[in-house]
Amino acid sequence: MKDKQVLVRSAQLQDIADICRLCGQLGYPVEESGVASRLKTILADVEQAVFVAVNQNGGVIGWVHVLQVLYLETEPFAEIGGLIVEETFRGQGTGKMLMQAAEEWAIKNTLLDIRLRSNSIRENAHVFYKAIGYQHVKTQFTFHKRITG
Ligand SMILES: CC(C)(COP(=O)(O)OP(=O)(O)OC[C@H]1O[C@@H](n2cnc3c(N)ncnc32)[C@H](O)[C@@H]1OP(=O)(O)O)[C@@H](O)C(=O)NCCC(=O)NCCS
Repeated sequence: MKDKQVLVRSAQLQDIADICRLCGQLGYPVEESGVASRLKTILADVEQAVFVAVNQNGGVIGWVHVLQVLYLETEPFAEIGGLIVEETFRGQGTGKMLMQAAEEWAIKNTLLDIRLRSNSIRENAHVFYKAIGYQHVKTQFTFHKRITG
């Protein structure tokens, strides 16, 4: 059943605790102080945005982060930095609403290409992205090196 009572708005600093709780559900246990610092930076940056979904009780039940990416070899594009809907509110159209907010932000910023990367184990998310019009275009390896001074 679609929940018509959910609204999407820009994130505010007062949302930090809820954003952190949802980061945990996304698989990223985070320190609130680190999220607070990064959210302040993001909110002050015109090249990125965070939107939250709020239910009829005023509770934050999801968030999406969208940012402009600039690489030498391609036109600038928008990328989804993260997306999460509270476990008990999934399947009610909230993820789609958050993605629509991200897409509207991209269009306003003249970014007509929107991309995202999703871990291969997130099969439910892949079904979701296809349902809302995204195409799986390539599969990549991710490399990482911890730089120690
Ligand atoms: C992926 C996620 C954000 C989707 O949010 P959601 O609110 O549950 O999705 P919606 O209810 O808006 O679904 C939109 C469409 O996708 C479809 N869909 C979503 N999840 C689905 C699933 N598991 N299986 C089948 N279809 C699915 C819905 O049926 C709906 O289709 P419709 O518009 O034709 O009715 C949410 O499941 C989530 O937070 N997952 C865990 C975190 C995660 O994987 N994030 C993405 C990281 S890349």
